[in-house]
Amino acid sequence: MGKAGVIIAAAGSGTRMGFGKNKVLLPLLGMPILIRSIKKFTSQAWVKEIIVVVRREDYSEIDNLIKQWDVRIDQLIIGGKRRQDSVALGLQSLSNDIEWVFIHDAARPLVESRVINDAYTQVQKYQAIGVAVPVKDTIKVINNEQVVENTPNRAKLWAIQTPQAFSYSLIKQAYQQAEINGWEGTDDCSLVENMGFPVKLIAGSYSNIKITTKEDLQLAKVLLKMQTGGSLVMKSGIGYDVHRLVKERQLILGGVKIDHPCGLAGHSDADVVTHALMDSLLGAAGLGDIGRHFPDTEPEYQGISSIELLKQVTAKLSSLNYQVNNVDLVIIAQRPKLAPYVERMRSVLAEVLGIDPGNINIKATTTEGLGFCGREEGIAAFACATILGLS
Ligand code: CTP
Ligand code: MG
Repeated sequence: MGKAGVIIAAAGSGTRMGFGKNKVLLPLLGMPILIRSIKKFTSQAWVKEIIVVVRREDYSEIDNLIKQWDVRIDQLIIGGKRRQDSVALGLQSLSNDIEWVFIHDAARPLVESRVINDAYTQVQKYQAIGVAVPVKDTIKVINNEQVVENTPNRAKLWAIQTPQAFSYSLIKQAYQQAEINGWEGTDDCSLVENMGFPVKLIAGSYSNIKITTKEDLQLAKVLLKMQTGGSLVMKSGIGYDVHRLVKERQLILGGVKIDHPCGLAGHSDADVVTHALMDSLLGAAGLGDIGRHFPDTEPEYQGISSIELLKQVTAKLSSLNYQVNNVDLVIIAQRPKLAPYVERMRSVLAEVLGIDPGNINIKATTTEGLGFCGREEGIAAFACATILGLS
């Protein structure tokens, strides 16, 4: 049946993930995405060689990770500007006694062994295989003004994934032709198609997602747990906090600076909304409260932005495989009028929680002049959150 070489493309920068580092280095239920992807190819007897293509700036970190996780690869090489350049460099490094080439995105760690094995069987027959799934959405073709030009028949549309598998000589030739003719493609099959050679698609799976944005990272956790037989649980928590209003402090609510002559007193920035929110999240996860995690006796929390603390709470939840589902907040303040700030607060909090602002609801109310809030002695906030976990 012939031996195969595998090229794992990991030389991207993960810009759309917005974590400031290559997304494939991020952990997915404890194990880095890249390591999970490589491991999908290390147990097939027909895999002769694995080449991982990385960016120069990630080289030593990835080299260490590979050693740390003890995965078997044959070469770690530096990639290029575009994915196509990285794969081309991978192809040049393959030993020439292999018969088949598998090209796989490091960003697809959830590919199932069944799919990889199917591709290996089918490539012997067709020489060029793409793993793909029928699209679920109706697709529109638009012009430069984003006006629809046409609607292709969905029954004929498939979304392409990786791996893509080819005969060694065919893919070498396709990349050479691409270089000569200036062909650019966002996948490898398209270069073979450009040569007029038929590419056969085989059924992948909807769970073989390409981890691209933060939502994908959360989704991947759920899919991975489902693949390993776990199940989902929903948990809820409440939070409540009050801070005293004082002169000469900046009022900050929900991570947003509010124009007001008074601010809230406290050890941190006293963002009462973010505090209530953190307590609701910690409560939902059964992790106590913010006093336990960020004691106000600790100098390191003096004047700290509560948004920084919320980042830590979110990271804590992620490490326990929890993701935030939705949040509902009530702010009780006699003044100032908060409606003009609500949208900003939603987007700031949504960014930190890694969820859509549509999953954050914020209500502000006065107490009609009654009680400590009514007398403008303080501001209070309630929060209610649900989190999605895996058991
Ligand atoms: N890739 C690569 N070389 C590049 C660009 C991308 O090897 N010059 C790899 C990525 O590491 C990823 C795969 O190709 O595993 C698919 O690319 P994509 O999902 O677009 O990842 P990034 O380019 O890293 O992400 P972004 O486009 O958001 O920056
Ligand atoms: Mg990219």
